Amino acid sequence: MIQLKDIKKMSALAEKWARQGKTVGFVPTMGALHEGHLSLVRTAKRENDIAVASIFVNPIQFGPKEDFSRYPRDIQGDSKKLKSAGLDVLFTTTPAEMYTEGFATYVLADEGMAGVLCGARRPGHFRGVLTVVAKLFNIVRPTVAYFGQKDFQQAALISRMAADLNFPLKVAVCPTIREKDGLAMSSRNMYLDVRERAQAVVVSRALFEGKRIIERCGECDSRKVIKKMRAIITAAPLARIDYVEIVDRATLKKSEKLEGKLAACAAVFFGKTRLIDNVLIDVPNRRRAPKKK
Ligand code: PAJ
Repeated sequence: MIQLKDIKKMSALAEKWARQGKTVGFVPTMGALHEGHLSLVRTAKRENDIAVASIFVNPIQFGPKEDFSRYPRDIQGDSKKLKSAGLDVLFTTTPAEMYTEGFATYVLADEGMAGVLCGARRPGHFRGVLTVVAKLFNIVRPTVAYFGQKDFQQAALISRMAADLNFPLKVAVCPTIREKDGLAMSSRNMYLDVRERAQAVVVSRALFEGKRIIERCGECDSRKVIKKMRAIITAAPLARIDYVEIVDRATLKKSEKLEGKLAACAAVFFGKTRLIDNVLIDVPNRRRAPKKK
């Protein structure tokens, strides 16, 4: 595995691979890596000639009161993990190199998709994410870029951006990797103290219960399902709900009728730590009313 620390070198290598007709799988990350990240790297390696990952804690996707300065950083530990996952090239860069003096161009998604869920609570967050991902796509020139379902809205917006702006690559969205008790793996889980960590399991439990009552029990009133999910979360005394919603997977609009391909999404604070999670829900066809003859 080689580590490249500047954009020019990374771009030159990407150009060489393009000339050689090599396929490149790319996993952008902010580091503090866990099995969720590593599963993306292994898939990228399995499906392509070359696997590249980036580690860059992107300042422009953090709000002024968020955790940019305390975001966990462990480049040495991360490179060991990436090496054993089979990564070929690790790209690390710096804010000064990514956002040079006079930087003025951002990628902005429509508010319909970027101004809901996390976008409604973290103004400017997705502008920062889409801008850095667009830059990384241009630097690394991947054949396939891999993202986790864990960050559902992010994956939806990036897929949309790649299609809308004609990036010549495929966006692959891979399953959420969970701890044994169901908690979605996240770099932010390490902020949780023992009690918070034990109670954090309510988030995935609530989302899977929502999925069950829609898919198996045929519940079609979203208010009832959301009420049930909120009750499961608030049973944990340390949990403070930011949002719990059920949305259409493609448009991210709230689903009132619970039809088609949906996602149940939640953001919950434990102390200062904000955890997000989601599960995909496929409403069975049998529930749709039969057409009148
Ligand atoms: P980061 O939070 O480091 O996540 C990097 C990638 O790993 C994202 O695609 C994320 O969805 C995925 N991931 C995180 N936890 C996962 C889990 N438990 N299972 C599966 N995949 C998981 O997301 C970002 O960084 C940044 O916003 C980034 C896209 C790099 C732009 O700065």
